[in-house]
Amino acid sequence: MRRRIAMAVAASTLSLSLAGCGMLSATEDAADATPTKGDDMVIGMLMPEKTNTRYEEFDYPILKEKVASLTNDKGKVEYANAAADADTQVTQMQRMIDDQVDLILLDAVDAESIADTVQKAKDAGIPVIAYDRLAEGPIDAYVSFDNELVGEVQGRSLLEALGTADTSDQIVMMNGSPTDPNAAQFKAGALSELQDQVTIAESYDTKDWSPEVAQSQMTEAIEKIGADNLAAVYSANDAMAGGILKALEAAGVSDSDLPPITGQDAELSAVQRIVSGQQYMSVYKPYPEMAEAAAEMAVAKVRGREIQFDSLTRDTVDSATDKDIPAQLVTVVALTKSNIESTVVADGIYDVSDICTAKYEAACAAIKLN
Ligand code: BGC
Repeated sequence: MRRRIAMAVAASTLSLSLAGCGMLSATEDAADATPTKGDDMVIGMLMPEKTNTRYEEFDYPILKEKVASLTNDKGKVEYANAAADADTQVTQMQRMIDDQVDLILLDAVDAESIADTVQKAKDAGIPVIAYDRLAEGPIDAYVSFDNELVGEVQGRSLLEALGTADTSDQIVMMNGSPTDPNAAQFKAGALSELQDQVTIAESYDTKDWSPEVAQSQMTEAIEKIGADNLAAVYSANDAMAGGILKALEAAGVSDSDLPPITGQDAELSAVQRIVSGQQYMSVYKPYPEMAEAAAEMAVAKVRGREIQFDSLTRDTVDSATDKDIPAQLVTVVALTKSNIESTVVADGIYDVSDICTAKYEAACAAIKLN
């Protein structure tokens, strides 16, 4: 993996673009001459689960390194992962409040039930930035990928895979966890593309984004619809696409007869399935761009650099409890066989050798990825 290089590139692009817009002006430096806090800070980072590899492979390590580089190696990240348990996350967040960390980045397991704890952080004077999933309660800002766009990209790709789609094409929709507001946005984005174009024969929400639950739901859908009558499967992410594939294989569908399946996250196993043709697409979310933006926002906030903080949060979003939350939404791209090189490889997420292991050598050669 060449993540280090990609991060350096992303960082230089960011400072260039900020300088280009005149955001980091001499005036601001002067205004910031007396920061409320120096380099010595602790940022709390609460991640939601471990089944999906992105949090521990990309989000956390990239953020940690960026916080260190912005603070002369003095800033620390206190990390906790709730392993998909909402109560565990409340306990972890309370501990960070008790530890008096300087700021909390929160990727909520359950956006609604964490709201009371967000209020407690606020009462303790600790700013909270919602990370990836929009937590309810009085958060200071939100940094995420553009989630509605994720769903649109998935929906469009699915139609593209079907070629001439029509309403006789039956598809199954496997959506994410009902406690994650992103799942609703992915679904809405996808439906905006799919509605009236195909028939959504079955649609499921998937508890905890669990691949095992997705697998059993898919088994049920196959029993109802019949594997032969399935034109495509919308899977909200890659880990669930893995479970869906197992259900199709167990129903006797051979690799050459697999319907197009979507995904999200550009997990290594999914990129390999795309190479071999078992999965049609994933959504590549440039992790360095978002995690580094989160680090910049967090450090600026702790230092009291409000002008810089505002320049990093030019969008606004509404949650169920709060309106006009300052936000930064990072864009995403469809990842298919045709652009592996220019996305995950170019950004240093994976080396070609990570993807093209012995098992995938021939398939990689067939798409000239080697
Ligand atoms: C994230 C996805 C992830 C899913 C399951 C969503 O909130 O945006 O990237 O696959 O949660 O963890």
